[in-house]
Amino acid sequence: MNKETVIVLDFGGQYNQLIARRVRENNVYCEILPYTVDIEKIKEINPKGIIFTGGPNSVYDESSPHYSPEIFKLGIPVLGICYGCQLMAYSLGGNVVSAADDSVSEYGKTVTNYNKDCVLFNALPESGISWMSHRDYISEPPKGFEITAHTDNCPVAAMADKERKLYGVQFHPEVNHTENGSKMIKSFLYDVCGCKGEWKMDSFIDTTVAQIKEQVGDKGVVLGLSGGVDSSVAAALISKAIGKQLTCVFVDQGLMRKDEGDFVEQTFTKLFDMNFVRINCGEEFLAKLKGIFDPEEKRNIIGTEFYNVFWDKIRDSYGSGFFAQGTIYPDRIESGKGDAAKIKTHHNQVGVPNDIKFEDIIEPLKDLFKDEVREVGEMLGLPHDLVWRQPFPGPGLGVRVIGEVTAERVKILQEADAILRDEMDKCGYAKEMSQFFAVLPGVKTVGVMGDSRTYSELVAIRAVTTDDFMTADWAKIPYDILGRVSNRIINEVNQVNRVVYDITSKPPGTVEWE
Ligand code: XMP
Repeated sequence: MNKETVIVLDFGGQYNQLIARRVRENNVYCEILPYTVDIEKIKEINPKGIIFTGGPNSVYDESSPHYSPEIFKLGIPVLGICYGCQLMAYSLGGNVVSAADDSVSEYGKTVTNYNKDCVLFNALPESGISWMSHRDYISEPPKGFEITAHTDNCPVAAMADKERKLYGVQFHPEVNHTENGSKMIKSFLYDVCGCKGEWKMDSFIDTTVAQIKEQVGDKGVVLGLSGGVDSSVAAALISKAIGKQLTCVFVDQGLMRKDEGDFVEQTFTKLFDMNFVRINCGEEFLAKLKGIFDPEEKRNIIGTEFYNVFWDKIRDSYGSGFFAQGTIYPDRIESGKGDAAKIKTHHNQVGVPNDIKFEDIIEPLKDLFKDEVREVGEMLGLPHDLVWRQPFPGPGLGVRVIGEVTAERVKILQEADAILRDEMDKCGYAKEMSQFFAVLPGVKTVGVMGDSRTYSELVAIRAVTTDDFMTADWAKIPYDILGRVSNRIINEVNQVNRVVYDITSKPPGTVEWE
Protein backbone atom coordinates (compact mmCIF):
# COMPACT_ATOMS: atom_id res chain seq x y z
CA MET A 1 0.00 0.00 0.00
CA ASN A 2 1.40 3.37 -0.98
CA LYS A 3 0.09 5.53 1.85
CA GLU A 4 1.07 9.13 2.41
CA THR A 5 3.90 9.03 4.89
CA VAL A 6 5.86 11.51 6.95
CA ILE A 7 9.25 10.52 8.33
CA VAL A 8 10.35 11.53 11.81
CA LEU A 9 14.13 11.44 11.68
CA ASP A 10 15.34 10.53 15.16
CA PHE A 11 18.36 12.43 16.46
CA GLY A 12 17.98 11.05 19.98
CA GLY A 13 15.49 13.52 21.45
CA GLN A 14 13.29 12.55 24.35
CA TYR A 15 9.98 13.55 22.69
CA ASN A 16 10.36 11.60 19.43
CA GLN A 17 7.43 9.27 19.94
CA LEU A 18 5.33 12.26 20.94
CA ILE A 19 6.14 13.97 17.63
CA ALA A 20 5.04 10.82 15.79
CA ARG A 21 1.84 10.68 17.83
CA ARG A 22 1.05 14.31 16.98
CA VAL A 23 1.45 13.55 13.28
CA ARG A 24 -0.78 10.48 13.52
CA GLU A 25 -3.40 12.45 15.47
CA ASN A 26 -3.68 14.56 12.34
CA ASN A 27 -4.54 11.41 10.38
CA VAL A 28 -1.17 11.28 8.67
CA TYR A 29 0.82 8.05 8.83
CA CYS A 30 4.39 8.50 10.03
CA GLU A 31 7.40 6.38 10.80
CA ILE A 32 10.32 7.09 13.10
CA LEU A 33 13.66 6.30 11.46
CA PRO A 34 17.12 6.61 13.05
CA TYR A 35 19.40 9.38 11.76
CA THR A 36 21.69 6.65 10.41
CA VAL A 37 19.13 5.63 7.77
CA ASP A 38 20.47 5.78 4.21
CA ILE A 39 19.16 8.66 2.13
CA GLU A 40 18.32 6.13 -0.60
CA LYS A 41 15.82 4.53 1.75
CA ILE A 42 14.20 7.92 2.31
CA LYS A 43 13.98 8.47 -1.45
CA GLU A 44 12.38 5.05 -1.81
CA ILE A 45 9.71 5.88 0.78
CA ASN A 46 9.17 9.23 -0.96
CA PRO A 47 7.58 10.86 2.11
CA LYS A 48 5.31 13.89 1.96
CA GLY A 49 7.50 15.52 4.63
CA ILE A 50 10.35 14.96 7.06
CA ILE A 51 10.60 16.11 10.67
CA PHE A 52 14.03 16.35 12.32
CA THR A 53 13.66 15.68 16.05
CA GLY A 54 15.46 17.29 18.93
CA GLY A 55 18.52 15.70 20.45
CA PRO A 56 20.75 16.08 23.47
CA ASN A 57 23.84 17.30 21.61
CA SER A 58 25.42 20.46 20.29
CA VAL A 59 26.00 20.44 16.52
CA TYR A 60 29.66 21.12 17.34
CA ASP A 61 30.15 17.96 19.47
CA GLU A 62 32.31 15.47 17.62
CA SER A 63 29.92 12.68 18.35
CA SER A 64 26.76 14.64 17.56
CA PRO A 65 24.43 13.09 14.97
CA HIS A 66 24.43 14.72 11.55
CA TYR A 67 22.72 13.99 8.26
CA SER A 68 23.72 14.46 4.66
CA PRO A 69 22.74 17.99 3.51
CA GLU A 70 21.54 16.29 0.32
CA ILE A 71 18.30 15.72 2.19
CA PHE A 72 17.47 19.42 1.80
CA LYS A 73 17.76 19.12 -2.00
CA LEU A 74 15.17 16.39 -2.44
CA GLY A 75 12.32 18.89 -2.71
CA ILE A 76 10.64 17.25 0.29
CA PRO A 77 9.48 19.68 3.02
CA VAL A 78 11.50 19.50 6.23
CA LEU A 79 10.58 20.74 9.70
CA GLY A 80 13.49 20.87 12.17
CA ILE A 81 12.64 20.90 15.86
CA CYS A 82 15.15 22.17 18.49
CA TYR A 83 18.40 20.31 17.72
CA GLY A 84 16.86 19.47 14.34
CA CYS A 85 16.42 23.20 13.68
CA GLN A 86 20.02 23.94 14.72
CA LEU A 87 21.28 21.14 12.51
CA MET A 88 19.34 22.53 9.57
CA ALA A 89 20.81 25.99 10.19
CA TYR A 90 24.35 24.62 10.61
CA SER A 91 24.17 22.34 7.55
CA LEU A 92 22.92 25.12 5.27
CA GLY A 93 25.46 27.76 6.32
CA GLY A 94 23.67 29.63 9.12
CA ASN A 95 25.34 30.46 12.40
CA VAL A 96 24.79 28.36 15.51
CA VAL A 97 26.32 29.74 18.67
CA SER A 98 27.57 27.26 21.20
CA ALA A 99 26.58 29.02 24.39
CA ALA A 100 29.58 29.46 26.67
CA ASP A 101 27.41 30.53 29.57
CA ASP A 102 23.85 29.85 30.56
CA SER A 103 22.57 33.42 30.21
CA VAL A 104 21.21 32.78 26.72
CA SER A 105 19.95 29.25 27.21
CA GLU A 106 16.23 28.78 27.68
CA TYR A 107 14.43 26.03 29.56
CA GLY A 108 10.70 25.81 30.06
CA LYS A 109 7.78 28.04 29.17
CA THR A 110 8.92 31.07 27.19
CA VAL A 111 6.98 33.98 25.70
CA THR A 112 7.49 33.78 21.95
CA ASN A 113 6.64 36.31 19.23
CA TYR A 114 5.49 34.87 15.92
CA ASN A 115 5.58 36.32 12.43
CA LYS A 116 2.07 35.84 11.15
CA ASP A 117 3.23 35.79 7.53
CA CYS A 118 4.66 32.34 8.15
CA VAL A 119 2.29 29.54 7.23
CA LEU A 120 2.99 27.73 10.52
CA PHE A 121 1.77 30.67 12.57
CA ASN A 122 -0.67 32.61 10.41
CA ALA A 123 -3.78 31.35 12.18
CA LEU A 124 -2.34 32.01 15.67
CA PRO A 125 -2.06 35.03 17.98
CA GLU A 126 1.06 37.15 17.53
CA SER A 127 2.62 35.81 20.69
CA GLY A 128 2.22 32.83 22.96
CA ILE A 129 3.99 30.45 25.28
CA SER A 130 6.37 27.92 23.77
CA TRP A 131 8.36 25.15 25.47
CA MET A 132 12.09 25.72 25.13
CA SER A 133 14.91 23.42 26.12
CA HIS A 134 18.18 24.51 24.55
CA ARG A 135 21.63 25.79 25.35
CA ASP A 136 23.02 26.53 21.86
CA TYR A 137 21.05 28.94 19.70
CA ILE A 138 20.90 30.12 16.11
CA SER A 139 22.23 33.68 15.80
CA GLU A 140 21.78 33.93 12.05
CA PRO A 141 19.69 31.77 9.77
CA PRO A 142 21.11 30.38 6.51
CA LYS A 143 20.81 32.33 3.25
CA GLY A 144 17.29 32.21 1.85
CA PHE A 145 15.66 31.86 5.31
CA GLU A 146 13.64 34.48 7.14
CA ILE A 147 13.32 34.72 10.89
CA THR A 148 9.71 33.82 11.73
CA ALA A 149 9.73 33.91 15.55
CA HIS A 150 11.89 35.29 18.34
CA THR A 151 11.99 35.52 22.12
CA ASP A 152 13.82 37.90 24.47
CA ASN A 153 16.83 35.57 24.55
CA CYS A 154 16.58 33.78 21.27
CA PRO A 155 16.94 35.84 18.08
CA VAL A 156 15.88 32.92 15.86
CA ALA A 157 13.10 30.99 17.63
CA ALA A 158 11.80 29.92 14.21
CA MET A 159 12.97 30.28 10.62
CA ALA A 160 11.59 29.44 7.20
CA ASP A 161 12.65 29.19 3.58
CA LYS A 162 9.30 29.17 1.81
CA GLU A 163 10.79 28.44 -1.61
CA ARG A 164 12.58 25.29 -0.51
CA LYS A 165 9.83 24.36 2.00
CA LEU A 166 12.32 24.21 4.85
CA TYR A 167 11.07 25.20 8.33
CA GLY A 168 12.70 25.19 11.72
CA VAL A 169 11.49 25.88 15.26
CA GLN A 170 13.79 26.16 18.26
CA PHE A 171 10.98 25.24 20.65
CA HIS A 172 9.02 21.98 20.98
CA PRO A 173 5.59 22.24 19.29
CA GLU A 174 4.88 18.58 20.14
CA VAL A 175 4.57 19.13 23.92
CA ASN A 176 1.35 20.40 25.45
CA HIS A 177 3.14 23.30 27.15
CA THR A 178 3.54 24.97 23.76
CA GLU A 179 0.31 26.86 23.13
CA ASN A 180 -1.09 25.92 19.71
CA GLY A 181 1.82 23.54 19.06
CA SER A 182 -0.54 20.97 17.52
CA LYS A 183 -1.86 23.62 15.11
CA MET A 184 1.69 24.40 13.99
CA ILE A 185 2.33 20.73 13.25
CA LYS A 186 -0.99 20.50 11.46
CA SER A 187 -0.11 23.51 9.27
CA PHE A 188 3.20 21.91 8.37
CA LEU A 189 1.48 18.65 7.41
CA TYR A 190 -1.46 20.07 5.47
CA ASP A 191 -0.36 23.50 4.21
CA VAL A 192 3.33 22.80 3.57
CA CYS A 193 3.49 19.05 2.83
CA GLY A 194 0.05 18.88 1.19
CA CYS A 195 -1.09 15.87 3.20
CA LYS A 196 -4.73 14.82 2.83
CA GLY A 197 -5.13 13.00 6.17
CA GLU A 198 -5.94 9.49 4.98
CA TRP A 199 -4.69 7.60 8.06
CA LYS A 200 -7.90 6.65 9.87
CA MET A 201 -8.56 3.66 12.06
CA ASP A 202 -11.70 2.50 10.27
CA SER A 203 -9.93 2.44 6.94
CA PHE A 204 -7.00 0.73 8.70
CA ILE A 205 -9.34 -2.08 9.78
CA ASP A 206 -10.78 -2.53 6.27
CA THR A 207 -7.38 -2.53 4.57
CA THR A 208 -5.78 -4.87 7.12
CA VAL A 209 -8.68 -7.32 7.01
CA ALA A 210 -8.40 -7.45 3.21
CA GLN A 211 -4.63 -7.95 3.41
CA ILE A 212 -4.92 -10.79 5.94
CA LYS A 213 -7.56 -12.54 3.81
CA GLU A 214 -5.38 -12.34 0.76
CA GLN A 215 -2.21 -13.44 2.52
CA VAL A 216 -3.74 -16.36 4.41
CA GLY A 217 -5.99 -17.80 1.69
CA ASP A 218 -7.52 -21.00 3.04
CA LYS A 219 -4.69 -21.78 5.50
CA GLY A 220 -4.81 -21.66 9.28
CA VAL A 221 -3.44 -18.99 11.64
CA VAL A 222 -2.43 -19.61 15.24
CA LEU A 223 -2.05 -16.82 17.80
CA GLY A 224 -0.83 -16.86 21.40
CA LEU A 225 -3.43 -14.93 23.36
CA SER A 226 -2.32 -13.55 26.72
CA GLY A 227 -5.45 -11.58 27.57
CA GLY A 228 -3.44 -8.34 27.27
CA VAL A 229 -4.52 -5.48 25.01
CA ASP A 230 -2.21 -6.14 22.06
CA SER A 231 -2.76 -9.85 21.54
CA SER A 232 -6.51 -9.41 22.16
CA VAL A 233 -6.88 -6.71 19.50
CA ALA A 234 -4.75 -8.74 17.06
CA ALA A 235 -7.03 -11.74 17.70
CA ALA A 236 -10.20 -9.70 17.13
CA LEU A 237 -8.83 -8.24 13.89
CA ILE A 238 -7.68 -11.57 12.46
CA SER A 239 -10.94 -13.21 13.47
CA LYS A 240 -12.81 -10.51 11.53
CA ALA A 241 -10.75 -11.42 8.47
CA ILE A 242 -10.75 -15.21 8.57
CA GLY A 243 -13.13 -16.40 11.34
CA LYS A 244 -12.61 -20.04 12.24
CA GLN A 245 -9.36 -20.33 10.32
CA LEU A 246 -7.90 -18.58 13.39
CA THR A 247 -6.99 -20.58 16.49
CA CYS A 248 -6.14 -18.64 19.64
CA VAL A 249 -4.16 -20.52 22.26
CA PHE A 250 -4.57 -19.11 25.75
CA VAL A 251 -2.22 -20.52 28.39
CA ASP A 252 -3.84 -20.02 31.80
CA GLN A 253 -1.03 -20.58 34.27
CA GLY A 254 -3.31 -19.94 37.25
CA LEU A 255 -1.53 -16.68 38.09
CA MET A 256 -4.01 -14.23 36.62
CA ARG A 257 -6.30 -11.96 38.64
CA LYS A 258 -9.55 -13.29 40.08
CA ASP A 259 -11.84 -14.65 37.31
CA GLU A 260 -9.63 -13.13 34.60
CA GLY A 261 -9.08 -16.41 32.76
CA ASP A 262 -12.85 -16.96 32.53
CA PHE A 263 -13.37 -13.39 31.35
CA VAL A 264 -10.86 -13.88 28.52
CA GLU A 265 -12.48 -17.18 27.53
CA GLN A 266 -15.99 -15.75 27.53
CA THR A 267 -14.96 -12.70 25.54
CA PHE A 268 -13.36 -14.68 22.77
CA THR A 269 -15.79 -17.56 22.59
CA LYS A 270 -18.97 -15.45 22.80
CA LEU A 271 -18.09 -12.29 20.91
CA PHE A 272 -15.84 -13.58 18.16
CA ASP A 273 -15.79 -16.25 15.54
CA MET A 274 -12.61 -18.32 16.06
CA ASN A 275 -11.29 -21.51 17.61
CA PHE A 276 -10.36 -20.81 21.20
CA VAL A 277 -8.13 -23.23 23.09
CA ARG A 278 -7.59 -22.69 26.80
CA ILE A 279 -4.81 -24.66 28.45
CA ASN A 280 -5.36 -24.79 32.19
CA CYS A 281 -2.00 -25.61 33.68
CA GLY A 282 -2.11 -23.85 37.06
CA GLU A 283 -1.25 -27.02 38.97
CA GLU A 284 1.78 -27.80 36.84
CA PHE A 285 3.05 -24.26 37.31
CA LEU A 286 2.59 -24.39 41.07
CA ALA A 287 4.45 -27.73 41.18
CA LYS A 288 7.40 -26.12 39.35
CA LEU A 289 7.33 -23.14 41.74
CA LYS A 290 7.28 -25.24 44.91
CA GLY A 291 10.10 -24.25 47.24
CA ILE A 292 11.24 -21.36 45.02
CA PHE A 293 11.67 -18.00 46.77
CA ASP A 294 14.00 -16.01 44.54
CA PRO A 295 12.13 -13.53 42.28
CA GLU A 296 14.35 -13.97 39.23
CA GLU A 297 14.24 -17.75 39.54
CA LYS A 298 10.43 -17.55 39.70
CA ARG A 299 10.35 -15.32 36.61
CA ASN A 300 12.59 -17.75 34.71
CA ILE A 301 10.54 -20.77 35.65
CA ILE A 302 7.24 -19.11 34.77
CA GLY A 303 8.60 -17.80 31.45
CA THR A 304 10.23 -21.08 30.40
CA GLU A 305 7.28 -23.18 31.45
CA PHE A 306 4.88 -20.86 29.64
CA TYR A 307 6.65 -21.27 26.32
CA ASN A 308 7.12 -25.01 26.81
CA VAL A 309 3.38 -25.49 27.29
CA PHE A 310 2.53 -23.14 24.44
CA TRP A 311 4.92 -24.61 21.86
CA ASP A 312 4.09 -28.20 22.84
CA LYS A 313 0.47 -27.48 22.05
CA ILE A 314 1.34 -25.84 18.74
CA ARG A 315 3.73 -28.66 17.82
CA ASP A 316 1.06 -31.29 18.49
CA SER A 317 -1.90 -29.63 16.84
CA TYR A 318 -1.33 -26.40 15.01
CA GLY A 319 2.05 -26.34 13.23
CA SER A 320 2.24 -25.06 9.60
CA GLY A 321 -0.03 -22.29 8.33
CA PHE A 322 0.70 -18.85 9.78
CA PHE A 323 1.76 -17.62 13.21
CA ALA A 324 0.35 -14.31 14.45
CA GLN A 325 1.41 -12.01 17.26
CA GLY A 326 0.42 -8.66 18.71
CA THR A 327 3.66 -6.73 18.11
CA ILE A 328 2.97 -2.98 18.10
CA TYR A 329 4.96 -0.08 16.67
CA PRO A 330 6.91 0.99 19.79
CA ASP A 331 8.17 -2.63 20.04
CA ARG A 332 9.91 -2.15 16.70
CA ILE A 333 11.23 1.40 16.73
CA GLU A 334 14.95 1.61 16.25
CA SER A 335 16.39 4.26 18.51
CA GLY A 336 18.54 7.01 17.01
CA LYS A 337 20.75 6.66 20.06
CA GLY A 338 21.68 3.04 19.62
CA ASP A 339 22.99 0.70 16.99
CA ALA A 340 20.68 1.42 14.09
CA ALA A 341 20.96 -2.04 12.61
CA LYS A 342 19.61 -3.69 15.71
CA ILE A 343 15.90 -3.72 16.42
CA LYS A 344 15.11 -4.06 20.11
CA THR A 345 13.97 -7.54 21.06
CA HIS A 346 10.79 -7.05 22.96
CA HIS A 347 9.12 -9.51 25.27
CA ASN A 348 6.22 -10.12 22.91
CA GLN A 349 8.37 -10.74 19.87
CA VAL A 350 8.50 -14.43 20.42
CA GLY A 351 11.06 -16.55 18.60
CA VAL A 352 9.51 -19.60 16.95
CA PRO A 353 11.45 -22.80 17.85
CA ASN A 354 13.46 -24.28 14.97
CA ASP A 355 11.45 -27.48 14.73
CA ILE A 356 8.16 -25.66 14.15
CA LYS A 357 7.67 -24.27 10.68
CA PHE A 358 5.19 -21.60 9.67
CA GLU A 359 4.59 -20.09 6.24
CA ASP A 360 5.06 -16.62 7.69
CA ILE A 361 4.48 -14.41 10.72
CA ILE A 362 1.53 -12.03 10.74
CA GLU A 363 1.74 -8.88 12.86
CA PRO A 364 -1.33 -6.83 11.98
CA LEU A 365 -0.69 -4.11 14.60
CA LYS A 366 2.97 -3.60 13.87
CA ASP A 367 2.47 0.00 12.65
CA LEU A 368 0.21 1.20 15.47
CA PHE A 369 0.86 3.06 18.69
CA LYS A 370 -0.83 1.80 21.85
CA ASP A 371 -3.69 4.31 21.79
CA GLU A 372 -4.35 3.48 18.13
CA VAL A 373 -4.45 -0.21 19.10
CA ARG A 374 -7.04 0.67 21.76
CA GLU A 375 -9.10 2.63 19.24
CA VAL A 376 -9.11 -0.38 16.89
CA GLY A 377 -10.06 -2.63 19.83
CA GLU A 378 -13.04 -0.43 20.68
CA MET A 379 -14.14 -0.37 17.04
CA LEU A 380 -13.97 -4.16 16.86
CA GLY A 381 -16.26 -4.45 19.88
CA LEU A 382 -13.80 -5.68 22.52
CA PRO A 383 -15.03 -5.01 26.08
CA HIS A 384 -13.97 -1.67 27.56
CA ASP A 385 -12.26 -3.41 30.52
CA LEU A 386 -10.04 -5.35 28.18
CA VAL A 387 -9.19 -2.45 25.89
CA TRP A 388 -8.25 -0.20 28.82
CA ARG A 389 -6.62 -2.93 30.88
CA GLN A 390 -3.68 -1.78 32.98
CA PRO A 391 -0.27 -3.34 32.34
CA PHE A 392 0.03 -6.74 33.98
CA PRO A 393 3.38 -8.49 34.31
CA GLY A 394 3.93 -11.61 32.20
CA PRO A 395 4.67 -13.73 35.33
CA GLY A 396 1.31 -12.54 36.71
CA LEU A 397 0.63 -12.84 40.42
CA GLY A 398 3.78 -14.97 40.63
CA VAL A 399 5.72 -11.75 41.30
CA ARG A 400 3.09 -10.26 43.62
CA VAL A 401 3.01 -13.23 45.96
CA ILE A 402 6.36 -12.49 47.54
CA GLY A 403 8.37 -15.60 48.36
CA GLU A 404 6.97 -19.05 47.70
CA VAL A 405 3.91 -19.21 45.43
CA THR A 406 1.26 -21.63 46.73
CA ALA A 407 -2.37 -22.15 45.69
CA GLU A 408 -3.61 -20.80 49.01
CA ARG A 409 -1.49 -17.64 48.87
CA VAL A 410 -2.49 -16.94 45.24
CA LYS A 411 -6.14 -17.24 46.28
CA ILE A 412 -5.71 -14.78 49.20
CA LEU A 413 -4.07 -12.27 46.88
CA GLN A 414 -6.73 -12.70 44.18
CA GLU A 415 -9.48 -12.00 46.72
CA ALA A 416 -7.76 -8.94 48.19
CA ASP A 417 -6.91 -7.59 44.74
CA ALA A 418 -10.52 -8.04 43.54
CA ILE A 419 -11.80 -5.97 46.50
CA LEU A 420 -9.29 -3.22 45.79
CA ARG A 421 -10.31 -3.17 42.12
CA ASP A 422 -14.00 -3.13 42.98
CA GLU A 423 -13.67 -0.17 45.37
CA MET A 424 -11.46 1.81 43.00
CA ASP A 425 -13.92 1.23 40.14
CA LYS A 426 -16.93 2.16 42.26
CA CYS A 427 -15.54 5.54 43.29
CA GLY A 428 -14.29 6.27 39.77
CA TYR A 429 -10.71 6.57 40.99
CA ALA A 430 -9.44 3.62 38.96
CA LYS A 431 -9.10 5.65 35.77
CA GLU A 432 -6.85 8.19 37.49
CA MET A 433 -4.27 5.48 38.16
CA SER A 434 -1.64 4.17 35.76
CA GLN A 435 -1.51 0.90 37.68
CA PHE A 436 -2.75 -0.39 41.02
CA PHE A 437 -2.80 -3.80 42.65
CA ALA A 438 -2.46 -5.75 45.87
CA VAL A 439 0.71 -7.52 47.02
CA LEU A 440 1.11 -10.36 49.49
CA PRO A 441 4.43 -9.62 51.18
CA GLY A 442 4.56 -12.93 53.06
CA VAL A 443 4.67 -11.29 56.46
CA LYS A 444 2.40 -12.36 59.30
CA THR A 445 1.50 -9.88 62.03
CA VAL A 446 -0.41 -9.98 65.28
CA GLY A 447 -3.89 -8.50 65.49
CA VAL A 448 -7.05 -8.71 67.53
CA MET A 449 -10.47 -9.56 66.18
CA GLY A 450 -13.41 -9.96 68.50
CA ASP A 451 -11.82 -11.10 71.75
CA SER A 452 -9.14 -13.21 70.17
CA ARG A 453 -5.63 -12.65 69.08
CA THR A 454 -4.92 -13.26 65.37
CA TYR A 455 -1.69 -13.97 63.62
CA SER A 456 -2.37 -13.59 59.91
CA GLU A 457 -1.15 -12.31 56.55
CA LEU A 458 -0.39 -8.70 55.72
CA VAL A 459 -1.63 -7.24 52.39
CA ALA A 460 0.04 -4.22 50.79
CA ILE A 461 -1.67 -1.88 48.33
CA ARG A 462 0.39 -0.40 45.52
CA ALA A 463 -0.89 2.40 43.24
CA VAL A 464 1.14 4.61 40.92
CA THR A 465 0.76 7.37 38.37
CA THR A 466 3.27 7.62 35.55
CA ASP A 467 3.65 8.48 31.87
CA ASP A 468 6.18 5.87 30.90
CA PHE A 469 6.76 3.50 33.86
CA MET A 470 10.46 4.46 33.87
CA THR A 471 9.66 6.72 36.79
CA ALA A 472 6.45 6.72 38.80
CA ASP A 473 4.83 8.59 41.70
CA TRP A 474 2.95 6.82 44.44
CA ALA A 475 -0.69 7.78 44.05
CA LYS A 476 -2.26 10.06 46.65
CA ILE A 477 -5.42 7.97 47.05
CA PRO A 478 -7.91 9.68 49.42
CA TYR A 479 -7.89 8.17 52.93
CA ASP A 480 -11.58 7.28 52.86
CA ILE A 481 -11.07 5.04 49.83
CA LEU A 482 -8.05 3.37 51.44
CA GLY A 483 -10.11 2.95 54.61
CA ARG A 484 -12.94 1.17 52.78
CA VAL A 485 -10.49 -1.10 50.95
CA SER A 486 -8.74 -2.02 54.19
CA ASN A 487 -12.01 -2.73 56.04
CA ARG A 488 -13.36 -4.92 53.32
CA ILE A 489 -10.14 -6.91 52.84
CA ILE A 490 -9.86 -7.62 56.56
CA ASN A 491 -13.54 -8.54 56.89
CA GLU A 492 -13.91 -10.53 53.69
CA VAL A 493 -10.55 -12.28 53.33
CA ASN A 494 -10.21 -14.65 56.27
CA GLN A 495 -6.49 -15.02 56.35
CA VAL A 496 -5.69 -11.26 56.38
CA ASN A 497 -5.63 -9.06 59.50
CA ARG A 498 -3.67 -5.99 58.37
CA VAL A 499 -3.43 -3.75 55.27
CA VAL A 500 -0.67 -1.22 54.52
CA TYR A 501 -0.24 1.35 51.71
CA ASP A 502 3.05 1.59 49.80
CA ILE A 503 4.23 5.24 49.65
CA THR A 504 7.43 4.68 47.66
CA SER A 505 7.99 6.37 44.31
CA LYS A 506 10.12 4.95 41.48
CA PRO A 507 13.02 5.45 41.87
CA PRO A 508 14.06 4.40 44.47
CA GLY A 509 11.34 1.70 44.45
CA THR A 510 10.08 -0.22 41.44
CA VAL A 511 6.39 -0.52 40.59
CA GLU A 512 6.26 -4.24 41.35
CA TRP A 513 7.66 -5.55 44.63
CA GLU A 514 9.69 -8.31 43.02
P1 XMP B 1 8.88 -2.15 37.55
O1 XMP B 1 8.52 -3.09 38.66
O2 XMP B 1 10.09 -2.62 36.78
O3 XMP B 1 7.65 -2.19 36.55
O4 XMP B 1 9.02 -0.73 38.01
C1 XMP B 1 7.48 -1.36 35.42
C2 XMP B 1 6.32 -1.94 34.61
O5 XMP B 1 6.70 -3.22 34.07
C3 XMP B 1 5.81 -4.24 34.54
N1 XMP B 1 6.62 -5.44 34.83
C4 XMP B 1 6.68 -6.53 34.06
N2 XMP B 1 6.07 -6.83 32.89
N3 XMP B 1 7.15 -8.94 32.87
C5 XMP B 1 6.31 -8.04 32.31
O6 XMP B 1 5.74 -8.35 31.26
C6 XMP B 1 7.80 -8.72 34.04
O7 XMP B 1 8.56 -9.55 34.53
C7 XMP B 1 7.55 -7.44 34.66
N4 XMP B 1 8.02 -6.86 35.79
C8 XMP B 1 7.43 -5.63 35.88
C9 XMP B 1 5.15 -3.66 35.78
O8 XMP B 1 3.88 -4.26 36.04
C10 XMP B 1 5.06 -2.19 35.43
O9 XMP B 1 3.93 -1.93 34.60
